[in-house]
Amino acid sequence: MKRALPDLTVDQPAAGEKVTLVLHADGKQYDLPVLGGTHGPKVIDVRRLYAETGYLTYDPGFMSTANCDSALTFIDGERGILLHRGYAIEDLAAHADFLEVCYLLLYGKLPTQSELGDFGHVIGHHNMVHEQFRRFFEGFRRDAPPMAVMVGTVGALSAFYHDQIDITDTEARMVATHRLVAKMPTICAMAFQYSRGQPFLYPRNDLGYVPNFLRMAFGVPVEEYVVNPVLERAINRFLVLHADHEQNASTSTVRIAGSSRANPYACVAAGIAALWGPDHGGANEAVVNMLEEIGSKDRIPLYIKRAKDRSDPFRLTGFGHRVYKNYDPRAAILRESCHEVLGELGKKDEPLFELALELERIALDDDYFVQRKLFPNVDFYSGIMLRAIGFPTTMFPPLFALARTIGWIAQWKEMIEAPDQHIARPRQRYTGHPIRPYVPLAER
Ligand code: ACO
Repeated sequence: MKRALPDLTVDQPAAGEKVTLVLHADGKQYDLPVLGGTHGPKVIDVRRLYAETGYLTYDPGFMSTANCDSALTFIDGERGILLHRGYAIEDLAAHADFLEVCYLLLYGKLPTQSELGDFGHVIGHHNMVHEQFRRFFEGFRRDAPPMAVMVGTVGALSAFYHDQIDITDTEARMVATHRLVAKMPTICAMAFQYSRGQPFLYPRNDLGYVPNFLRMAFGVPVEEYVVNPVLERAINRFLVLHADHEQNASTSTVRIAGSSRANPYACVAAGIAALWGPDHGGANEAVVNMLEEIGSKDRIPLYIKRAKDRSDPFRLTGFGHRVYKNYDPRAAILRESCHEVLGELGKKDEPLFELALELERIALDDDYFVQRKLFPNVDFYSGIMLRAIGFPTTMFPPLFALARTIGWIAQWKEMIEAPDQHIARPRQRYTGHPIRPYVPLAER
């Protein structure tokens, strides 16, 4: 059955029509062009503002700043809508294989059967890592967080390909994107196996992207690993739901790093670092820790009270989002996945899930959360599902990084290929000491 598409039409400037915003400053008037996109808010083009007026715009945290043109992902945060290349996330999560979504983000269209087969073949033939690469892992303490291992080892990929990257070459750029998508499951699984003292497994090309990853993560060389189709579907969904998300902190980091023409492997390592924090990709780990700390339903009111208290640093992790002021569509899908996975594993009464459902119910009934439009975000339920599948909390951010690699690298490619690409160089409002004379050391 076909879903009705939401009406996202906005009041756009007509082709050729010049819409301007008038700015009065220092007795003069300046006309700032206003540009429309396909959907979403119009933007004021301030690129000439400083040259023409001597004023900068001021926007810490990029609350009102569009940093680029992008044709990859659209979010309507007020209405809880997320589209990749025009396709709704609900449809992609229900029907698409992760590699289909990778293809869609990279090439701009859904693949045909044969295009998907060829793409899978190319990815399959880039999924091994150099034998020397394995030694990087041995340099880490065995209790190193897998995310720390990911930052280091993905960055180290640039040492293996530095002489093969000509980022001005279209083909070389595409090969780099394929390599990253292909090698990330191998590296992520190696980081996990290393943290458990288990041997690394080579990828197998008779398996699809997700089964291959599950085998490398959970398999052992001494016996066959049988992939559970329900868990495969859940991980596929997790990857699809995290594939890209517009200009978030880690994606912007990748774009900024790449704007200096740094190699893409180093840029993605920078993205992994930005993803790590508890306000971004570390949030699903923090949610599980928080639920464990709350411990039981009768303690929820205490934590709700703490979350609302400005003098208490505690926040309800997994709630709230810079862009979504409505239910994050990804959270709703992951809540369903939790039901499926827990049912399959005979853990229907998983106490952490029960606690999360109750916390959501109580928070969404509370004026504080309603007024601030704080809803569960993608991280609220994902950790519960990943933990049930067998991943420890320290693996949650690496799994997010595995999924987001396609978004990072597709955005990097889009940025490099943009006709007006410049090095990203924000300015500042200087609030330091006024100019003063240097005082020689002996006179201080
Ligand atoms: N619990 C309690 N109060 C909250 C929460 C929360 N989780 N999130 C926001 N608020 C409150 C703020 O205190 C603020 O209240 P005030 O108006 O009384 O000062 C108001 O809601 C607005 O919050 P901001 O921090 O201004 O919103 P911002 O857009 O800057 O922050 C963020 C978004 C960082 C995601 C925030 O909601 C948060 O910290 N959430 C918890 C961490 C989390 O889940 N991060 C994952 C995000 S999704 C992702 O990266 C994949």
